[in-house]
Amino acid sequence: MFNKWAVSSYQLATDRPLSKWVVWMPVLATSAYPFFLNAFHALVTSGGPDSNLAPAELLLAIVTMLAVFAIPVMGLALACLGIDRRNNTAAQLKVRRLALFIICAPTLYCFIGVNLIMAGAPVPDEWFWVALWIGIGAFLSRDGRGVEESIRPLRALAAWRVAHGIAGAIVLLFIAFHLFNHLFGLAGPQAHAQVMEIGRKIYRSSLVEPILVVALLFQVFSGLRLAWNWSAVGSDNYRIFQVGSGVFLAVFILGHLNAVFVFARTYAGIETGWDFASGDPVGMIHDPWGIRLLPHYSIGVFFIITHLFSGLRGVMLAHGASQLKANQIWLGGAVFGALISLLIMLGITGVRLF
Ligand code: HEM
Repeated sequence: MFNKWAVSSYQLATDRPLSKWVVWMPVLATSAYPFFLNAFHALVTSGGPDSNLAPAELLLAIVTMLAVFAIPVMGLALACLGIDRRNNTAAQLKVRRLALFIICAPTLYCFIGVNLIMAGAPVPDEWFWVALWIGIGAFLSRDGRGVEESIRPLRALAAWRVAHGIAGAIVLLFIAFHLFNHLFGLAGPQAHAQVMEIGRKIYRSSLVEPILVVALLFQVFSGLRLAWNWSAVGSDNYRIFQVGSGVFLAVFILGHLNAVFVFARTYAGIETGWDFASGDPVGMIHDPWGIRLLPHYSIGVFFIITHLFSGLRGVMLAHGASQLKANQIWLGGAVFGALISLLIMLGITGVRLF
């Protein structure tokens, strides 16, 4: 099912030179990302924090939030398009790498926003974003007629893959606890803080914290190295998903570490507890800046879990498991990831189950 995402009739796989629109259409759609977020925020806050939305407003709010999520989905779908190795291969690969970068839009917008605050930039985030994407579009489409070049052959990168897996296991110990901790948001800020206090004794200790940060940075750089290599493979969309979620996580991790260590703890001197995570007391949904955290966190949690299951799928196949079994496990992981992400986001936006 997943492999059918590849639409071989799309222009990427024709003999004609690549049209500049193959770059410009996704780039222009991505440049609209902050405006979808703003529209959603304006709709949900139009009547004040406690008022109910009229059905038409609610429908529009749902549509605008779907548009927000449609941007990384578009990036993923574009990345899955087949590469025709007879013509314009290098140009097609460039489009795929652009597509992988587009998947990062939700987390990149947070990263940019945090840095613009720290830089004291007078430019609104939205206009910085639009200028960035127009710059990317202009850069990538400058030789849009396509150059007949072959792409470099794939390398096995066995040592990188093993190292990425080992560092991933160290990181997993923290992430499993961290996400478990965030699930306690469903029981309220106090329960969340109590669990965090227990964990902090370990992960913020002078021994563990540097190891965690180094392991995460290693994951980012080794992951990007692997992604650069694997992005040249178009046949297996499970692999493209693994690469796409990994590229998102690279930006997410850099941005999250920057937000926690540089922005909150160093620049602003604020406590990185519940209020920092949820945007309270205003709340993520009702804060015009904080609304961007909703897609950033929800996709981050979903991707960290599915990325791990993508790795597990690869290991299962390498050890002789059937394709069907490995794919079923991956699908189970994706459903699990979506559920955990939904529960954490419900808790962080104010839903209480206990
Ligand atoms: C809903 C999703 C998430 C939220 C709301 C969130 C929020 C937070 C908060 C509030 C802290 C500060 C913790 C403290 O002060 O003790 C933190 C730290 C951290 N988070 Fe997350 N996080 C999320 C997901 C993730 C994911 C998916 C990763 C990994 C890819 C991650 C990696 C980290 C790391 C490495 C730290 C630093 C830990 C330390 O203080 O040493 N987070 N996060």
